[in-house]
Order: sequence, then C-alpha cells, then structure tokens
Amino acid sequence: MILQDKVVLITGGTSGIGRATAIAYAQQQAKVVIVGRRIDEGEETVRLIKEAGGEAIFVQADVTKEADVKAMVDKAVSVFGRLDIAFNNAGTVGENPSLIEQTEAEYERTMNVNIKGVWLSMKHEIAQMLKQGSGSIVNMASTVGFVAYPIQPLYAASKHAVVGLTKAAALQYAKAGIRINAVGPAAIQTDMLEAATGGQDEAKAYITGLHPIGRIGTPLEVANAVLFLSSDLASFVTGETLMVDGGYVAQ
Ligand SMILES: NC(=O)c1ccc[n+]([C@@H]2O[C@H](COP(=O)([O-])OP(=O)(O)OC[C@H]3O[C@@H](n4cnc5c(N)ncnc54)[C@H](O)[C@@H]3O)[C@@H](O)[C@H]2O)c1
Repeated sequence: MILQDKVVLITGGTSGIGRATAIAYAQQQAKVVIVGRRIDEGEETVRLIKEAGGEAIFVQADVTKEADVKAMVDKAVSVFGRLDIAFNNAGTVGENPSLIEQTEAEYERTMNVNIKGVWLSMKHEIAQMLKQGSGSIVNMASTVGFVAYPIQPLYAASKHAVVGLTKAAALQYAKAGIRINAVGPAAIQTDMLEAATGGQDEAKAYITGLHPIGRIGTPLEVANAVLFLSSDLASFVTGETLMVDGGYVAQ
C-alpha cells in the first residue's frame, strides 16, 4: 500500500486509460482528483470509485486553458491539502490520417491538447510540488513518441514533443525532489482506438498484427505502469518514457 493516502490528480480521467488509472489508484487507497471536460463521465468515474470504497472528486477543466489548469491544482490542494502525484493523460488524435488532408484547426487542437495541455499541467503541478519539496509526475506519450505509424503525422509530432518535454522538465527539477516520467502505450482498447479504426474489425486486425505480443493492450496494463512510475518503487527513475507496447518499438 505504498500509494495509500497519496493525493493523485489525473487529467482526462473521464474515460479510457485515465478512468482505469483513477480506479487503480483508488484501489491502492490513494485520494483521486479526476479532471476532464465532461461532467457526467467525470461524476461516473467518481461513482465507480466511491462504490468500491475509494475516495475521489471530479474537477471540470479544459487542459488547454491556463485558468482551468491552475484551478484544478488549487482544488486538489484545497480539498486534500497537497498534490503528491499527477498523471497528465488528456490527449486527442486528429480526424484525418493523411498529412495533406490535415487542417490548421486540427493542428491547433492536437498541439494544444497534447503539448500545451501537458506543459500547462506540469507548470502548475510543479509549482505546488516545489512548495512541498516532493512530487511525481507521469505524462502520457505513446509509441509514436518514439517511432511513427504511417498515419496521423501531427499526432506523432505531438507525442514526440511530450517525450522531449518530459526529459527537459525531469532534468530541471531532479534536485528538487520531483520525478517526471512518461508512459508510451501502443494500441490500447479505448474509445480513441475505436474512433481511429472506425470500429472496423479489419482495421483492428491490422493494428493487432503490428504488436509482437499478438494483441492490443488494456487500459489497466497502462495504469499499472503509471502506478509503478509514480510510486517510490521507481525512486531512481526520472526523465524516462516506459513503453507499454507489447514489444512494438523493440521490432
Ligand atoms: N488508446 C490508445 O491506443 C493510445 C495509445 C497511446 C497513447 N494514448 C494516449 O492515451 C491518452 C488517453 O487516451 P484514451 O485512449 O484513454 O482515449 P480517451 O479518448 O478515452 O481519453 C482521452 C481523454 O482526454 C480528454 N481530453 C481531451 N481533450 C481534453 C481537454 N482539452 N481537456 C481535458 N481533457 C481532455 C478526453 O475527454 C478523454 O477523457 C491520450 O493522451 C492518448 O493520446 C492512447
């Protein structure tokens, strides 16, 4: 129970990997702050946690807006007194797979959520963690933060940026008692994957075949890696992106 009573903030905790990670932290008796834009889905995550005897609150915030991001950290501190762990998970994938079809609006949305959102979140989380003299952050990258699929070049660029941001921030705050890492999942069974494949079996079979382990991953398998990185079990790990990819980038 090394995460017991830790105060954990998770952006994009309203669905998918974020929701699974929120539930996994709560099962370890952490106090969870779920952040997202969608109130019903956020409250549903809180309900699932409370039903299982855990502790959680929902804070509505858009990670691309600095006032929202500051308010989410302030709320965590006002309710639970501190912020021990943050998982900056909120992300988006564009609609058009092909570079020449991608639009300026898509560029702005992808970069705003995937990079600006992570940067703004770290900015306010680290400010709080510096006051405490400790903290641990995990950012959401992707296998496409290291290699690229032949689709979605903007998404790959944004996730490469998350890896760089993670390394640089980790170095800046390494001596301040704050560890900063990232996870790099390959394909994980969530709404985002459903949207990317259009729910088509053929597309899913193609994606499955790209993974040496022979299947797509589950949100819980990513959550387990996030729990590890954020905990004292990883006390000498910082600036790292841990692949959770069934061997994808090892090929
Ligand atoms: N599913 C995969 O195959 C996969 C693989 C690698 C990385 N990822 C990354 O994992 C993260 C979670 O994705 P998921 O697969 O669970 O899909 P998802 O769509 O269920 O989760 C994305 C979450 O981010 C939230 N979000 C988006 N924009 C936001 C904003 N501006 N402010 C606040 N919240 C916002 C969404 O509402 C949603 O809850 C994303 O960063 C994604 O890029 C997913």
